[in-house]
Amino acid sequence: MCGIVGYVGKREATPILVDGLRRLEYRGYDSAGIAVANGQGARLVRCRGKLAALEKLLAVESPRGLTGIGHTRWATHGRPSEENAHPHKSGSVSVVHNGIVENHALLRERLTAAGRHFSSQTDTEVLAHLIDQALIDGASSLPEAVRQALRQVEGSYAIAVLSDRHHDEMVAAKKASPLVVGVGEGEMFLASDAPAILDKTRQVIFLEDGDVAHLARDQVSITNLAGQPVERRPKTVTWTPGQAEKAGYPHFMLKEIHEQPRAVTDTLRGRLMLNNGDAVLWEKEVTEIPRRMVIIACGTSYHAGLVGKFLIERVARIPCEVDLASEFRYREPVIGPGDLVVGISQSGETADTLAAMNEAKARGARTLAISNVVDSAIARTSDLALYTFAGPEIGVASTKCFTAQLTALALLAIHLGRRNGALDDIGAVRFASDLIQIPFKMSETLQLVGDLKELARKHKDAHDFLFLGRGSNYPIALEGALKLKEISYIHAEGYAAGEMKHGPIALIDDGLPVVIIATKGNSYDKVLSNLAEVRAREGHVIAVATKGDTEITKYCQDVLWVPEAPPLLQPLVTVLPLQMLAYAVAVVRGHDVDQPRNLAKSVTVE
Ligand code: G6P
Repeated sequence: MCGIVGYVGKREATPILVDGLRRLEYRGYDSAGIAVANGQGARLVRCRGKLAALEKLLAVESPRGLTGIGHTRWATHGRPSEENAHPHKSGSVSVVHNGIVENHALLRERLTAAGRHFSSQTDTEVLAHLIDQALIDGASSLPEAVRQALRQVEGSYAIAVLSDRHHDEMVAAKKASPLVVGVGEGEMFLASDAPAILDKTRQVIFLEDGDVAHLARDQVSITNLAGQPVERRPKTVTWTPGQAEKAGYPHFMLKEIHEQPRAVTDTLRGRLMLNNGDAVLWEKEVTEIPRRMVIIACGTSYHAGLVGKFLIERVARIPCEVDLASEFRYREPVIGPGDLVVGISQSGETADTLAAMNEAKARGARTLAISNVVDSAIARTSDLALYTFAGPEIGVASTKCFTAQLTALALLAIHLGRRNGALDDIGAVRFASDLIQIPFKMSETLQLVGDLKELARKHKDAHDFLFLGRGSNYPIALEGALKLKEISYIHAEGYAAGEMKHGPIALIDDGLPVVIIATKGNSYDKVLSNLAEVRAREGHVIAVATKGDTEITKYCQDVLWVPEAPPLLQPLVTVLPLQMLAYAVAVVRGHDVDQPRNLAKSVTVE
């Protein structure tokens, strides 16, 4: 979940590294550093804190050289500090690393016994020592030293390595953490994430597990860990660098909230057939009808899964369970042939989801990844991949990836329902025409909701929030609470509205804002009763309600209007006011909305 950049070429490396790190800062941001090599060896500049702190140091003295590596860190082993910031240097070797060296304690013990001195608490430092030792022991080249070192390592890694003795080359390697090489003219770029280098080149090689890449100005050669050559052709990436920038919004999160109508449209594009109501998801007809489905995910993606259960069961009539990836993998799940396990992950690299998918596969289930990152680890490990096309999401709190995931799940439900006969011709065409309208309804919702500054000011000092919803809006209540927690740091709970009287009702007094999703639909009357129960206890009610509902205003202090939508698809609109509320409260409280404390965009550790 950290960010890696690298450069070897004809220009000064430092400004290129800093620029790349700025685009990757969302991946981790408790310390940052670079190492730049020239004929005199590599110089390291590192510090605790965000990239701005590193830039201050570099303004005083910027290391010169045409080859360099850089890193922004999210601490796993060792607290955030300068000593623990990457790059780590041992002898002539400097290393940056994402992932976890699982056998680092054993390796550290061995290296210490052999007289090596460690200057950090990180697992990464063992890599620098191992590579340096391999060079001392006579490895024929830097790539060979890296291969020898990595053969001793268990765990996950994406690394970039510089050596004082080989100042115009660099080595990169990966296992279970992403790494891409950007191919320029007379220069090569390296990054853990393509958007970091897209303004430099669109020709990108996606390294695969076990690859060791040797980068020089004019060429990249790749081998496996045994040293045998492997061929990887560059792909042209179509994401523009501008897509990954703020486009005039004060925060990425606000930009991404407003991008949702487009993200949903892009996810539907070319897949939803309006004439017959079918969803064509893959080029070939690869679908087998499962007897049961299990959705596994973490965080916001898990909430998408909970909505997915409603979609799959109602539309395709296939029993569907939803589980947290971190729970699923350790409970000896009853799963096997005939089951379809769907892993949802915007990053496609969440460690728990990846491991749970592998577990499901090992037990004989068919696996399908819903991911926003093409060729992501979870997508590659799965039998099938269904990509959301939300574009890069930079804000740590997920918004547009969530609604794009809901869209993909709706498409999947249609696809299966058409193939097993659960969705008839008339129902299919109706559902497809409802779905295609959703992006317009989302745009209308964003207009109706406005910026919510006033409401946010009213509640900025609340200690707790309660979010209530029923049916497919219950997961939206969970998501609303999660969004608020993540960025405003106010405690919030999501609850099924019908469960309120079994506990949360005891919390209600005039200091508790209660957000209730009370849109027109199947359980409208029941939600109205819940709302009345809150009002009777002086709770402050903020209702998410259907435009034109005159009844609701009698029961609540504030209303967030949404346009009418069919109950099954309502989550795609009802989540928007909750995202906006969380955003507005966080801004009023003066928080760093895009990089909330202690969180990271993708969690590649268990
Ligand atoms: C982290 C992020 C969340 C995200 C979760 C799952 O906690 O901060 O926004 O929902 O990981 O990530 P995934 O990439 O698997 O969807």
